[in-house]
Amino acid sequence: MPKTPDYFRGKTVIITGAASGIGRATALIFAREGANVVSADIDTEGARRTGEQVTQLGAKSLVVPTDVTSREQVTDMVRRAIEEFGTVQFEFNSAGAALRRSKFLEIDDALFDKTFDLNVKGVFYGMQAILPHMLENGHGVIVNVASMSHKRGGPGTSVHYASAKGAVLTMTLGVAREFADRGIRCLSVSPGPINTPFQAAAQTAPEVVQRFRDDVPMKRFGEPEEIGELVLFMCSDACPYMTADTVYVNGGGGWR
Ligand SMILES: NC(=O)c1ccc[n+]([C@@H]2O[C@H](COP(=O)([O-])OP(=O)(O)OC[C@H]3O[C@@H](n4cnc5c(N)ncnc54)[C@H](O)[C@@H]3O)[C@@H](O)[C@H]2O)c1
Repeated sequence: MPKTPDYFRGKTVIITGAASGIGRATALIFAREGANVVSADIDTEGARRTGEQVTQLGAKSLVVPTDVTSREQVTDMVRRAIEEFGTVQFEFNSAGAALRRSKFLEIDDALFDKTFDLNVKGVFYGMQAILPHMLENGHGVIVNVASMSHKRGGPGTSVHYASAKGAVLTMTLGVAREFADRGIRCLSVSPGPINTPFQAAAQTAPEVVQRFRDDVPMKRFGEPEEIGELVLFMCSDACPYMTADTVYVNGGGGWR
């Protein structure tokens, strides 16, 4: 919960990856708090469904079909959000995926490039598009989704993905420090395994999922809402001295 009641009412958040999982859960949490929610995703139908749920919660919604690997589309996403709501205070970059598991020696250029285009360039484009607007307003909070995997490197299955998330962490740190004295905060979240369609999309075998679970001290996957509530806290006025770092949400560690 924010420190100030109604802190989010009428303020605007752009969420990429809003059609599913962590992005959707976060969209609904911000809607609960009365924020205007811009749902952006390559999955247009899913983003529309999130938009409908946002409206049902009494908040204002704008759905913008967006492929975050396209600079043009991301720039347009931000332009449309500002046009609709006037000011954008928050951006949550959740779009991302491991795409496919692969042993390190079998990672080809196509998988490596696609992984970095989505997870790294998507965040890079998102931040470059919104920052001029936030700097003009002298205020803005950007939260990016990294991953617990950057700590372990993803041996045997996903070095491509883990290293991309490492880049997200570093980019977040750099942006936060570059603009820290101009009203901008930038943070990342590093989840452990979370119950979303993400694992299916990464073609994770059931025995691998079981291994992830056994490896977590709490012996369970996290829920997407457990990330969304943290994002809300980060964007709120509760701890404005907080910037640059990542916060782990992982049931006590473990996972790859
Ligand atoms: N679920 C986990 O275990 C886990 C753990 C650590 C980090 N993460 C990260 O959390 C973030 C959210 O993942 P999730 O678990 O909610 O997965 P998810 O698959 O439920 O959601 C990801 C969303 O991103 C969207 N997306 C994919 N490519 C896109 C593109 N090019 N442009 C726009 N949108 C695109 C998908 O359509 C989907 O709606 C990702 O960055 C993921 O890497 C997830």
